[in-house]
Amino acid sequence: MLYRLPRGTQDILPEEQPYWSYIIKTAERMASLYGYRRIDTPVFEETGLFTRGVGQGTDIVEKEMYIFEDRGGDSLTLRPEGTAPVCRAYLEHGMQNVTQPVRLYYITPIFRYERPQSGRYRQHHQFGYEALGDASPVIDSEVVNIAWDFYKTLKLTNLKLVINSIGCRHCRPEYINNLKEYYSANGDRICPDCQVRLVKNPLRLLDCKNESCQMLTSSAPRSADYLCQDCREHFRSLLKYLDALKLPYLIDHRLVRGLDYYTRTVFEVQPLEGGAQSTIGGGGRYDDLIEQIGGKATPGIGFATGLERIIAHLKKEQIDIGNIPEVEVYIASIGENTIIRALEIAAELRTAGISTIISSGIKGLKRQLKQANTLGISKVIIIGETELASGSAIIRDMVTSQQQTLPLEEIMSLLKS
Ligand code: HAM
Repeated sequence: MLYRLPRGTQDILPEEQPYWSYIIKTAERMASLYGYRRIDTPVFEETGLFTRGVGQGTDIVEKEMYIFEDRGGDSLTLRPEGTAPVCRAYLEHGMQNVTQPVRLYYITPIFRYERPQSGRYRQHHQFGYEALGDASPVIDSEVVNIAWDFYKTLKLTNLKLVINSIGCRHCRPEYINNLKEYYSANGDRICPDCQVRLVKNPLRLLDCKNESCQMLTSSAPRSADYLCQDCREHFRSLLKYLDALKLPYLIDHRLVRGLDYYTRTVFEVQPLEGGAQSTIGGGGRYDDLIEQIGGKATPGIGFATGLERIIAHLKKEQIDIGNIPEVEVYIASIGENTIIRALEIAAELRTAGISTIISSGIKGLKRQLKQANTLGISKVIIIGETELASGSAIIRDMVTSQQQTLPLEEIMSLLKS
């Protein structure tokens, strides 16, 4: 072979497609149940949208973006996440002038140059949704609720919902100072990566996976203890609404998320085993993002979940995703002249909504029947020269191996009924 799949990407083969349609249909249904409308943005955007939006100190911007210069010399980046593009579109199409919040959703490929491993790809797909232009904690509870409802509808069970508030631009600086002081005082016990985080992105110290860092983290200062009056009130109301919705959330003081735009509410859905590293979905509020990318200050909140990770969970939990649609009828033909009749019958059956394939190029009835069997098709129509001449055909039930010769019209109405 001369060429192989690019590292960290996947072909989605026909056998896998039922999982994709199961998830996509559920996502679309969820979105419409909650009044979210679909938006599609380009696969690439101006690089600055992400460097400003997602944040210079994040892994995504520092090491994971697919950046290229186009032939006109512009710097473009393959979408490494869906929120900043949606905010850009919101501004570009004057959506701040319509009734707020604007509720949007997307199902889209995402590109991140990561070290490929199980559940971590360089191209993955996200179902995400954003509610823009509403600062109320009611909308936070809606966004959390959709996420939980979505996984529940998919019949996933081994999941937990974790939530935290990381404050706003007014109260966070004091928290960050305390965090830095705490970790600086324990500087000899943190890993080399955390030494860098301490300078560049102190919040991320909290979700280091290194064991000795995690031990320190358990007694690190908590953002919830530094919230200003408004943020505290917001968080309290949100939890009250989540209680009313009977959502089984857990407060996790270490939850910070990996993108810089978050303010106040952050939340994730994680597998019961496996922890934060295998997070299945995450989101939160981003009240400064729209201003950061050049718009008038506008609050927003959203969530996104990786489709590949959902599929892994569906398989692990052995969830029945319903019937895999199969081809219903196979047309076997013997002899040169029968092929036209086979084509006509196939066209008529398909018009009636019956999935049909015809054997092409396989000589001999035995081999054709064997193929129908391998494909799991239950009904075969057989046409030979005799049947062609008499306007009949043979219908064979592949399960019982029973077959009978009938006028073609009768077979067609039998199949259609
Ligand atoms: P994120 O946590 O970076 O958030 O990604 C969301 C989800 O995408 C993850 O929970 C995970 O399921 C999946 N995911 C991320 N990276 C990979 C990967 N390399 N391979 C496979 N799956 C992956 C965001 O992207 C935010 N835009 C979410 C958001 C929406 N926040 C507010 N609105």
